[in-house]
Amino acid sequence: MSDIVYLNGEYLAKHDAKVSVLDRGFLFADSVYEVIPVYHSIPFRLTEHLTRLEYCLRSIGLAHAFAAFEWQALIQSVIDKNKGGHLSVYIQVTRGRDKERSHVLDKQTPPTLLIMPMPLSTDVAALKAIRVTLLEDFRWQHCDIKTTALLANILLRNQAESLGFDEAILQRDQYITEASSSNVFAVINGELITPPKNQLILAGITRDLIIELAENASITVHQQPLSLAQLLSADEVWVSSSSREISPISHIDGKIVANGQIGPVATKVHQLFQSFKQSLVNS
Ligand code: PDD
Repeated sequence: MSDIVYLNGEYLAKHDAKVSVLDRGFLFADSVYEVIPVYHSIPFRLTEHLTRLEYCLRSIGLAHAFAAFEWQALIQSVIDKNKGGHLSVYIQVTRGRDKERSHVLDKQTPPTLLIMPMPLSTDVAALKAIRVTLLEDFRWQHCDIKTTALLANILLRNQAESLGFDEAILQRDQYITEASSSNVFAVINGELITPPKNQLILAGITRDLIIELAENASITVHQQPLSLAQLLSADEVWVSSSSREISPISHIDGKIVANGQIGPVATKVHQLFQSFKQSLVNS
């Protein structure tokens, strides 16, 4: 079940919840968001998601008065009202509803807070290869902020979809940044390479966990620039996100990656990921 949302202090049916036309989130995409997977009613990597949310709120100068335990209680209340299980919790904080449309901020305006459950695809528990295209990254210079200003990501993703691909891997000046809604990993000689955290990528929570799990299993991980040439000659390429977990890439623009099979490093890290998830449920 994913029908009841929290909006500014009220629990409402998803289809009845409404935000004003003067809300800055609607008018200017003046807002940030989070997507947190929930397995067996337990939010996954909650502290990490909340830390990123706080970072994004701070980055756009949006003061929000919640402490971590308050976020936690509110998120859990939405999970419980929707009868728990597996779902995805979407959080959006906008800079609130203005009196009139104005570029200039009114610092007194209280933020708008939405916490909305969404269905979570559980078929990611099995590794499934996808096909991607390479596109020019024409987004802004603050991709580290998880803002709802996603027009560029959406245009890129839909360009990929309209050409029959599942995702778009993005490049700037011959170097890979990330994908339209996921981070990118390459395996070269058994070692993992992923672009470093900076303003050109979103610091994915799944990315961080993959790095942690791989390093614990003595797989070398390099967080360093990944060139287009390295990507195209890699032994394995994957993308990662909260909703996809790990998706190995079989084809880039129709060209087979290595032998087109799901590679041994993806298989290993995927197993570690599933065991990690299971251990949280058992604990
Ligand atoms: N997207 N990079 C971009 C541009 C993203 O939009 C996402 C996630 C990621 C991966 O981050 P994480 O591992 O924390 O999910 C990387 C989410 C799922 C979305 O917009 O729905």
